[in-house]
Amino acid sequence: MQTFNMGKTPPVTFGAGRIKKVADLVTGLGGGPVLVVCDAALVEFGVVDKLTAGLDAGGIEQVVAAEVAGEPKETLVDDLCARARDAGAQCVIGLGGGAAMDTAKLVATIAKADKPARYYALAAKPLPKDRLPSIAIPTTAGTGSEVTRTSIVSTPEGVKNWYWGEELAFAQAVLDPELTLSLPPFLTAWTGIDAVAHALEGATAKTTSPAGVLYGLEALRILSKDLPRAVADGSDIEVRGRVLWASMLAGLALHNCNTHMGHNISHALGSLAPIHHGRATGLALEVSLPWLVQRAEGADLYAAASLAMGGAEEAAALPEVFAAFMREIGIARALPESCKDLNAAEIAEAMKSEANFSMSQNAACPISREDLDEMAGFVAALPIE
Ligand SMILES: [Fe+2]
Repeated sequence: MQTFNMGKTPPVTFGAGRIKKVADLVTGLGGGPVLVVCDAALVEFGVVDKLTAGLDAGGIEQVVAAEVAGEPKETLVDDLCARARDAGAQCVIGLGGGAAMDTAKLVATIAKADKPARYYALAAKPLPKDRLPSIAIPTTAGTGSEVTRTSIVSTPEGVKNWYWGEELAFAQAVLDPELTLSLPPFLTAWTGIDAVAHALEGATAKTTSPAGVLYGLEALRILSKDLPRAVADGSDIEVRGRVLWASMLAGLALHNCNTHMGHNISHALGSLAPIHHGRATGLALEVSLPWLVQRAEGADLYAAASLAMGGAEEAAALPEVFAAFMREIGIARALPESCKDLNAAEIAEAMKSEANFSMSQNAACPISREDLDEMAGFVAALPIE
């Protein structure tokens, strides 16, 4: 019989307009002041105002740090920890995509300790137990960071390091589909395919479990129908709501079972060149699935994933189903211009790095370093858009 653990899930509040009620959650966690860590772009979209107006109405003091743009860096985390201490913050809110939420959860966890973020990278040291409570408010449907115990933060040189531990988990998650209405089609697709990858990788990993299968396959069933609809018509709040819900379910698959080749490759690519994480992960899965499904290990899992995505219940059917889905949501089988100078050797080296190698070892089949060389070749052979 398989032995497995189910990770803790924060309480989730779901519904259009829930962002205006966050003050009640902050009060329930002990009150403010609050440090709001958010994407810079959300200020001009008026999303930050919605949150702060609700906090003001609830009498919660706040300091807004609208400084997350692109991949978060350790230096930003350290700076925000100092700001949290200076402001006497008693709570941290992460508002935005995965970058803002990953930054917020790490700041909340280490702000009270006197160590820089780097000290805790790659789980080298245990995370502090004395932390600030934190609330996640995703504005994209993709990363599932609101329910995971992982944070991805880059070194100043751009190397993506992971941080992991129960201490990182948010105390509350708020899923408000209204916040995703303004996402343009290409970002809906890029962030959405990241959720598909979390679901697919979690449900087919070596470490998958009944929890990974439950959350992952349900997320795949929803996303395979509703993500193309959200890309085609971003104004449908019901569709946006289902995609946001499925993204969280995919996050739970990731939370319980972790990722494998899609994320091994996309983290390697992201360390080498500027490329959107979701887009990179979708392409990484597209090129690695044909290789993976030829192995005996995991065949039943890949068959179940294919069925959940509307294909035949056969492992061999999955690569085509996945590739067709990528085209349906408008993602071309091509790397962006930013990746034009990458070669197979450097991609392979990044796939084997300390931060990335362990992900490859979570695929259902054994994967050697030579196998990673072969898959890096598939990535390098992609055309440039
Ligand atoms: Fe991801």
